[in-house]
Amino acid sequence: MKKNLLKLLDLTKEEILEILSLADQMKYNLRHGIAHRELEGKTLAMIFEKASTRTRVSFETGMYQLGGYALFLSSADLQIGRGEPIQDTARVLARYADGIMMRTFGQSIVEDFAKWADIPVINGLTDFEHPCQILADLMTIREYHGTLEGLKVAYIGDGNNVCNSLIVGSLICGMKISVATPKGYEPHKDILEFAKKYDTFELVNCPTQAAQKADAVYTDVWASMGMEDEANKRIKDFDGFQVNAELMKQTNANSIVLHCLPAHREEEITAEVFEQHASSIFDEAENRLHAQKAVMALLMRGEK
Ligand code: CP
Ligand code: NVA
Repeated sequence: MKKNLLKLLDLTKEEILEILSLADQMKYNLRHGIAHRELEGKTLAMIFEKASTRTRVSFETGMYQLGGYALFLSSADLQIGRGEPIQDTARVLARYADGIMMRTFGQSIVEDFAKWADIPVINGLTDFEHPCQILADLMTIREYHGTLEGLKVAYIGDGNNVCNSLIVGSLICGMKISVATPKGYEPHKDILEFAKKYDTFELVNCPTQAAQKADAVYTDVWASMGMEDEANKRIKDFDGFQVNAELMKQTNANSIVLHCLPAHREEEITAEVFEQHASSIFDEAENRLHAQKAVMALLMRGEK
C-alpha cells in the first residue's frame, strides 16, 4: 500500500481490492463484536475547509472504533485560515498526529500536504476526486451484485469530483461505465485521458443511452460545494439529467441506485426513485465507515 490516499488515479487494482477486502472484514468484525483496535493510541487530524456530515462522522467514529482518536479541525479556526503556509502546518501536524485527513478545494493542496507531512495523508474530498466515497461505493456494488467485474455503472449528471473518482475506480475494477453529462460539464481532462485506455468507458450527452442495461445508476448534486453561485444556471443546464422512474426502465431489473449524498430531491433524483432505492443509498453511506477504517488501518498501523 502507498503512503497516502490522495486520488484513485494513484492506486492499482490490487490495492483497491485489498482495501475492499479489509473493509468487508471491518464490517463483519463490527457486526459480530470482534475487537479490531488496529490503531490503538493513534491520532488522526481531520482538516475541513468545506462542510461535511458523512465524512466527518464516519472518520471520527471509525477512528474511535479502531482504538484511536480523531481531532476535528475547521480550517477557519486553524492558523492556516490566517495564512500559515501548508508546508509549516503539515510539518507541525506530523509531529503530533499519525495521519491527516483533509477536505479542501484544489487537489494540489492535499498533494502539497502529503509532500511536507511525513505521515499518511487521506483525501476526504477535493474538487478533483473523492476517493473514500468511491471505495465505499465499490464495496456497496459488490455487496449487492456479488462481483464488480463485467458490471455496468451509469453516472448521470455533473462530471464532478465524485464522477471523476467513479470513472477511475470502475475502470480499474473491471466494470463498464457510461457517463452522461450536459455539454460543458464533462469530467476532468486528466480523467478522460486515463479513461481513453479502456474500451469499457463511454461519455455521452444522453442519460437514456447511458442507463441502458446498467447494473448501478449513480448521481450527485448538480452544484457541488463551492459552486453555489451557479446553482440556478445549473438547474436549467441539467434539465433532462434526472434519475427518475422513466430512466430506471432502461436499466437491468436488479439494478441499484447510488447517491453519495447529500441529495436534492426532484433535481438530480426524484423522491420516488430515492425512496425505492433507500436501502442501497444508506448502505452506501454506512460503508463509508468500513471502507475508511480499512484505509486508515492499512496506511496508519505501521506509523511511529
Ligand atoms: N458524501 C459525503 O462525502 O458526504 P459529506 O459531505 O456529508 O461528508
Ligand atoms: N460533488 C459533491 C459531493 C459532496 C459529497 C461536492 O463536491 O459538493
